[in-house]
Amino acid sequence: DKGEFKHYMLKEIYEQPDAVARTLEMAIDNHAPNALRTDFLERHGEQLSGVRYVQVIACGTSYHAGMVAKYWFESITRLPCSVEVASEFRYRNPVVVDNSLVICISQSGETADTLSALRDIKKQNPAGLVSLALCNVPTSSLVRETDIFLPTLAGPEIGVASTKAFTTQLVALMLLMLKTGHVQGRIDDEALSNHISELQKLPGQLYASLHLDAPIKAMAEHFEDKKSCLFLGRGLQFPIALEGALKLKEISYIHAEGYAAGELKHGPLALVDKDMPIVVLAPKDSMLDKLKANMQEVHARHGELFVFASETSGIEAEDRLHLVNVNDVCETLSPIIYSVPVQLLSYHVAVLRGTDVDQPRNLAKSVTVE
Ligand code: M6R
Repeated sequence: DKGEFKHYMLKEIYEQPDAVARTLEMAIDNHAPNALRTDFLERHGEQLSGVRYVQVIACGTSYHAGMVAKYWFESITRLPCSVEVASEFRYRNPVVVDNSLVICISQSGETADTLSALRDIKKQNPAGLVSLALCNVPTSSLVRETDIFLPTLAGPEIGVASTKAFTTQLVALMLLMLKTGHVQGRIDDEALSNHISELQKLPGQLYASLHLDAPIKAMAEHFEDKKSCLFLGRGLQFPIALEGALKLKEISYIHAEGYAAGELKHGPLALVDKDMPIVVLAPKDSMLDKLKANMQEVHARHGELFVFASETSGIEAEDRLHLVNVNDVCETLSPIIYSVPVQLLSYHVAVLRGTDVDQPRNLAKSVTVE
């Protein structure tokens, strides 16, 4: 039931504060906020303590969640982590090193390529393999075929465009990273407690980001008749740029590409002219100055910038720079918060263009054939 909402996708965007709160509750007890709950992945502490390498396999939006997890695992725990789309991984005879944690991310748990990649890894049977399903459907094939089930508690997702499944995947990956890092002594009690207190702010911050709906709807009008669009981000926002571009093409049928902003001058800058909208994700983080330089490169070529920026970023609206301010959030968790404006932008552009938001042409919710 869509209730008061015109589309399932919009309803699911608005469910994110609750979905994230539920997913957090698996691991964090509000009455004991300085540590992970003892029953979180309780039976798997020993398996996780032996992990020396993390391999993420997924498709589409779930792959983008994996890309964020790579930044988190490597920068916070120093465990090496690779991420690959399942349809490539399964056909290239990849090396799976010993003591790998293989994380298969899938909303449905039935994606054919992800399942096949997992089966191939299990056939290789590397020593110390630990397989984990990060999945929204507890009864799925993926959950049955893995050692560990880490649920996302998003609730059923009906819209083909994934929204709340994505943000809850990110939360669950953060929790998994913290658990693994903590059992291995790579994250100490104090650091853990700091991460947890930031995580607890997420539902409120997501709720606040939904208030951006009106200004984003106004921004969407500039995209209605556009043919092509770029999404730029750096660091943790690079996967969100990819996700924003995927969302826009999937539901509005406007061609869109996500780029790491540092790659601009290696090719895509040639596309930039006055008809090219460029969406920029600009939280106040360690990459902000470099990102501003990239924005300057675009502006100088008369590109039209649509910027989601932290209110303390120092970025101001000007000619051909449209700005929506996002509340300040901690850098580590910023990809979760910045997912919301790109979802809302795609949604409103699609509605203006009159496409079938919940059932985009040629796509299925669950891709059970390759
Ligand atoms: O069920 P899964 O998470 O395995 O699905 C993977 C992709 O098919 C899925 O994320 C797809 O890219 C979405 N429709 C994107 O919104």
